[in-house]
Amino acid sequence: MSESPYPGLYRGLIERYRKRLPVAPDTRIISLTEGDTPLIPLENVARAIGHGVQIFAKFEGLNPTGSFKDRGMTMAVTQAVAEGTRAIICASTGNTSASAAAYAARAGIRCFVLIPEGKIALGKLAQAMIQGSVVIQIKGNFDDGMRIVKDMADAAPVAIVNSINPYRLQGQKTAAFEIVDALGRAPDYHCIPVGNAGNISAYWTGFSEYAGIKPKTAACAYCKDTCAFPCPAVTDSRPVMVGYQAAGSAPFMAGHPVAEPETVATAIRIGNPQSWDLAWAAVRESGGWFDALTDEEILKAQRLLAETEGVFCEPASAISVAGLLRDIERGKIREGSLITCTLTGHGLKDPDTAIKQSQGAVLEVPADSTAVRKAILDHL
Ligand code: F0G
Repeated sequence: MSESPYPGLYRGLIERYRKRLPVAPDTRIISLTEGDTPLIPLENVARAIGHGVQIFAKFEGLNPTGSFKDRGMTMAVTQAVAEGTRAIICASTGNTSASAAAYAARAGIRCFVLIPEGKIALGKLAQAMIQGSVVIQIKGNFDDGMRIVKDMADAAPVAIVNSINPYRLQGQKTAAFEIVDALGRAPDYHCIPVGNAGNISAYWTGFSEYAGIKPKTAACAYCKDTCAFPCPAVTDSRPVMVGYQAAGSAPFMAGHPVAEPETVATAIRIGNPQSWDLAWAAVRESGGWFDALTDEEILKAQRLLAETEGVFCEPASAISVAGLLRDIERGKIREGSLITCTLTGHGLKDPDTAIKQSQGAVLEVPADSTAVRKAILDHL
């Protein structure tokens, strides 16, 4: 581990959790100081719903590129560079491409991103473009892009940095570590959006590792056990894992891949999740469940978080709170529970959707004090 002349300076999740990650001591770390995101108490939402629950949002939108992808990307790009890779590639609904582009820029390597035509939020596209990646727009969806990227593994000298890359999940498991470290215990439930299903698998790996339990799945064999199980346990319990999908893109509810996924939450517009078995294992081993929510329910939760908590996340992220609130109402969550929800990406990623659903929120008045005073008094 490299020594820092500034001992109080946070240096990213690899340095923080190095002992639990497959990184050699002399490896050059590619980092944007990701991780260490806040666990924000959602007191207003919890009070309104009742049932004595405590809800915390793990706001991953506050990572350097605005989504949880940075956790996995610091690991994947660090490993790619250590292996001498000159170029990386990913298929993406937007956030993976933004993150891959940033870490590639930092490492000084090439980055190719495949994105679905017309179905990527504006902020994410801007990130991939300005950070110098080669943006390849395909006339197809994320699942088409994923299929093509997998073909490229043998067809071109590029390393894949989608979550089928085992190092991605290793990095992403650190979010679970941070939650337990912050709360001093594992939550009773953890609610999370599910698209390609890497993140739910990574959280389960992290929660399991911190409980000193090797998941029954192959998740930990990914790093070929270089993370040295049995790891010392930090806590004695694991949360129930609850994964939410958009109703128009819900292969886990259907029990099979979905051919034409559709949802306003474009980040999770995915019909053929790559971490299918790992995600099922996380839900089954934890006694959890999958469920699906309509676009209307997703947007309502996005608004609720923004209006009552001041937390602006993107639509795909809000699904974890939308699902939780519905499950509390349906009595599926025990009274008095401690619950964490991952808010995967920042609301600024998708300004179009935010503005569209806030129509009428801007008052237009003449440029004089009387008119402004009237507007204030009308809206107090
Ligand atoms: N939330 C956001 C904001 C995402 O960008 C994604 C995935 C997910 C949730 C779902 O996570 O795939 O691990 O189940 N976005 C990917 C991308 C697919 O290309 O940016 P998952």
